[in-house]
Amino acid sequence: MVRRLQIGVLGVLLLAGWGFEALHAEVGENAWLHYAPLDSAGRARYESLPATLVVLGDSAVLRAAQGEVIRGVNGMTGKALRSGKRVQEKSIVLGTLAAIRAVAPGLTPPNPLGADGFWLVTAQIRGFDCLLVASPTDRGVLYGVFALLSKMARGEDIATLNDMQQPHGTIRWVDQWDNLNGTIERGYAGPSIFFEKGRVRADLTRADEYARLLASIGINGCTINNVNADPRIIDDSFLPQLARIADVFRPWGVQLAVSVDLGSPKVLGKLDSFDPLAPRVIEWWRTRVDKIYRQIPDFGGFVVKADSEGRSGPSSYGRTPADAANTIARALKPHGGVLFYRAFVYDHHLDWRNLKNDRARAAYDIFHPLDGKFDDNVIIQVKYGPIDFQAREPVSPLFGGLARTNQGIELQITQEYTGQQRHLCFLPVMWKEILDFDLRVNGDGTPVKDLVAGKVFHRPAGAFVGVANVGMNPNWLTHPLAMANLYGFGRLAWDPNLTAKTIAEEWTRLTFGSDPVVVKTVTNMLLASWHTYENYTGPLGAQTLTDILGSHYGPGIESSERNGWGQWHRADHEGIGMDRTVATGTGFAGQYPPAIRDMYESLQATPDELLLFFHHVPYTYRLHSGKTVIQHIYDSHYDGAEQAADFMREWKSLETRVPDGLYKDVLARLEYQAGHAIVWRDAICDWFLQTSGIPDAQRRVGNHPDRFEAEAMQLKGYTVMDLAPWENASGGKGIECANASGCTASFRFDHAAGTYEMDVQYFDQNNGESKFRILVNGRQVDEWNANEHLPATKPGGDSSTRRRIPTLALQPGDEIRIEGSPDGEEHAPLDYVELHASTK
Ligand code: GCU
Repeated sequence: MVRRLQIGVLGVLLLAGWGFEALHAEVGENAWLHYAPLDSAGRARYESLPATLVVLGDSAVLRAAQGEVIRGVNGMTGKALRSGKRVQEKSIVLGTLAAIRAVAPGLTPPNPLGADGFWLVTAQIRGFDCLLVASPTDRGVLYGVFALLSKMARGEDIATLNDMQQPHGTIRWVDQWDNLNGTIERGYAGPSIFFEKGRVRADLTRADEYARLLASIGINGCTINNVNADPRIIDDSFLPQLARIADVFRPWGVQLAVSVDLGSPKVLGKLDSFDPLAPRVIEWWRTRVDKIYRQIPDFGGFVVKADSEGRSGPSSYGRTPADAANTIARALKPHGGVLFYRAFVYDHHLDWRNLKNDRARAAYDIFHPLDGKFDDNVIIQVKYGPIDFQAREPVSPLFGGLARTNQGIELQITQEYTGQQRHLCFLPVMWKEILDFDLRVNGDGTPVKDLVAGKVFHRPAGAFVGVANVGMNPNWLTHPLAMANLYGFGRLAWDPNLTAKTIAEEWTRLTFGSDPVVVKTVTNMLLASWHTYENYTGPLGAQTLTDILGSHYGPGIESSERNGWGQWHRADHEGIGMDRTVATGTGFAGQYPPAIRDMYESLQATPDELLLFFHHVPYTYRLHSGKTVIQHIYDSHYDGAEQAADFMREWKSLETRVPDGLYKDVLARLEYQAGHAIVWRDAICDWFLQTSGIPDAQRRVGNHPDRFEAEAMQLKGYTVMDLAPWENASGGKGIECANASGCTASFRFDHAAGTYEMDVQYFDQNNGESKFRILVNGRQVDEWNANEHLPATKPGGDSSTRRRIPTLALQPGDEIRIEGSPDGEEHAPLDYVELHASTK
């Protein structure tokens, strides 16, 4: 049955000359779907691809699939495919299995295919060699088309195909945290592609393009608004607007869903209650849902965040999450909709003085006792870890605690706690560790990826949800390399058995073309980036150590302590870590199945990278690595900052191999990251040095012989300021200029004559655009405007930024002067200057 299509192999023999054309590719709106012209080898490889495209059947989704094949083949090979309705010559054929059976009765896939699965096969139909894309559903055909085009874009041989793919989970959705006013909670890529000024945008071009991107990686649903939901989203006046979004999603097989506020019956419906068990409330939800389905027949369902971070919830009426979830789920059920109820429910007014209190326990404590009480179209949406998207957390024990309830995993594509798309952090490496983690619910063999797909307990549904928060930025997520996270989420939701390396390579090839040097370099950078980020931010499972009360971006070590939010790491002058054991701590470890509980309960058995999540230890405690905790903190932060600098060097090696604009854009971001990694390194190392009193065995911490502190320079107009928290500026101090006409800070160079690399550490706030000039003996050597949009209105760890002057010839006695001109609320603030003998 499976035949070899006569597709030229000549290409393989031709010298690659990979993708000079591909160099013209950019990331941009098309992300990984460039279909850039193939090089001559690539074109030769697909020389004998059929010239006709036959689509069996007609639907919006099949038309999208047809358009995509035409666009892709045309883009890559320059060929314009003819469209046909019948197989009368060698053809590419798209159709459902039923439609294919009608024209080729003997042609059935080797194994049964479920919804969304597809079969790519070379076979004969009516005596003609054909390339078939078949599926039980139109949507599966669309997925098959994207898979075929991806193979071509990556230069795979498609001469003989017999490839069946079935997604691991049935529900693969992204959530957007977009507000109706057009802002996005924890979004780092510009305004919403859906909303503007309280309404759905008039122009939904980007929403359409987004749905296409999502379809290309198998995502079949999108919740478009913030989990902190505005009740107006399901108001009568909004429904026709939502229907417009559903219309642009539909051809791409993406179901529309929205987040709803549990208080809606009261706020929107003007009822006197939102008690989920009150008959009038039940009726209100039913009528509302019926109205939605009248306008959007394929509406996907709702997401609910309740009793969490100030949101209204069933607890107001003494009801349980199951009561609330089921009321809404029953309204959705007749229409086939689903209800995601988030397990992110916790008390954010915990008493921090009580060492038995533990936010990490909340999800399991609340939801495990309700297991079996949720209707079949409810899915409990569980964040991957028990806290909140930290750079490192153990997997949530709740995945093992819902045997009779549907569950889904919530991952975060938007890099809230992982560098906000200003830092490179390829998250599929972390997601793989989580998905592959075997919770050993019934002994062995219950990895998270199977639990959340409903496979372990044979649940009717399971789900993968990624919080994406793309925005109007042409690159969707701003940092061009961050798009690998969106791509990776979709690929893992489809097939969590893929390796992070495979995903990184696929994405790199699709985005940059097949130059092996680019593929290898970018893949390596991606694969190293999460560990690097973890290294210079949060050590040993103590969480990200960021400012949890504000931006969630720069260092903010003590922000998590002595407040009710419960992100405690409990570092004091003797030790660090949360004791979460059953024996002496909060008992959180006891929420895991026995084998896992025993591992985390034991100090010896707990892996180093999670030590401080489960145990409180003295700084002198020795890790499995042989290092003490304190020395590990110092070393990992120095290593991390060094690795971040390596990314810059690695990227520079690609200067002539990637498009110029993209090269410069990414380079600027990596330079910034390398500088900010040093801010992180120094803040954490200095704080732990001061807190523990234990010096760095390598004497780096607090010892910066190349550094010239701004507060020690000769100041004209500038005044010295204390920073809070102190560790976010070198020496705890910086200088600021309140003088509108500008200020200067100068010093005499007193090191050996030579060529130096000069780093100026300044603070770049978002409420002004100060100007800086650097002069050596009165001669200007650099000038710039502090015009980044960092999440900061004051000098500190979020705004601290590095400017590098790569080569500067200096003699002892030279005068180095910095002129700062303030603007708005930004007072040309400076921290220090560092001069390193140039290695060039
Ligand atoms: C985090 C995030 C919030 C978000 C919340 C949630 O705490 O900072 O912005 O609302 O998670 O997931 O509900």
